[in-house]
Amino acid sequence: MADKILKVEQISLAFGGVKALTDVSFEVEKGSVFSIIGPNGAGKTSMLNCISGRYRPYEGSIHFDDQEVTHMRPNDRADLGIGRTFQNLALFGHMSVLDNIMVGRHHQMKNNWLTGPLYWASPAQKEELKHRRQVEEIIDFLDISHVRKSIAGTLSYGLRKRVELARAIALNPKLILLDEPMAGMNLEEKEDMARYILDLNEEFGITVVMIEHDMGVVMDISHEVMVLDFGKKLVSGLPDEVMANEHVRQAYLGLDDNEQLQEVG
Ligand SMILES: Nc1ncnc2c1ncn2[C@@H]1O[C@H](COP(=O)(O)OP(=O)(O)OP(=O)(O)O)[C@@H](O)[C@H]1O
Ligand SMILES: [Mg+2]
Repeated sequence: MADKILKVEQISLAFGGVKALTDVSFEVEKGSVFSIIGPNGAGKTSMLNCISGRYRPYEGSIHFDDQEVTHMRPNDRADLGIGRTFQNLALFGHMSVLDNIMVGRHHQMKNNWLTGPLYWASPAQKEELKHRRQVEEIIDFLDISHVRKSIAGTLSYGLRKRVELARAIALNPKLILLDEPMAGMNLEEKEDMARYILDLNEEFGITVVMIEHDMGVVMDISHEVMVLDFGKKLVSGLPDEVMANEHVRQAYLGLDDNEQLQEVG
């Protein structure tokens, strides 16, 4: 049996009378790209929030790397290796790109500002240097070295999304949750982002769970796709299987049998 990094079992979540998720189960294979699609309000972001710990489901369980995390705090899940980006950008707009990424990294450091007086001690200094080097690698990987000193809030939307991804990678995640990483991007930016996501999956071995509305991208880079509709799982499987599913084509894509999906690139 293939190795599963994430097991979501019978999750239900409600806000007052609104059922955001009902009895949703799925598993994600280690090292794969797993996409969640579905119409607005289907419960996609809520699902990511249950995995990251922002929301607590009233039913069901979540296992990450064979450990139950259902009731764990978000920070503890981040420590275990669950990273994320947000549907609405969550950068510190007044801080530089480098500092924004270091925020992600500081979470990993044993010596932080609380242990400031120790900073000049040799081990702390070495640790700081090591972190700086790793941050520089991430900056190179995402091709943002030309803006490393820029104030994040002044950058284009596409670049800010990339900086947010850099910050998430700086946490050294085993699993990264991406909520619409390409929303609002032009075609070229989308193609770039798709390549970065593939590279971080293939080169760094990071498992990706991604919400994305662009079906071309989803088809191109996913190993598996799950469709949510009104908080319920409609279907999951290989991208081709899911796209061929009659319910998906009618309910979500609004296509009839003869229409083809447009692919990006
Ligand atoms: N914090 C919250 N408080 C109240 N209701 C919420 C909250 N978060 C989500 N919901 C509700 O849960 C349902 C699912 O929302 P969710 O944001 O998960 O959908 P989504 O699939 O991500 O949609 P979109 O494609 O628009 O981002 C919606 O009815 C939404 O209004
Ligand atoms: Mg959403």
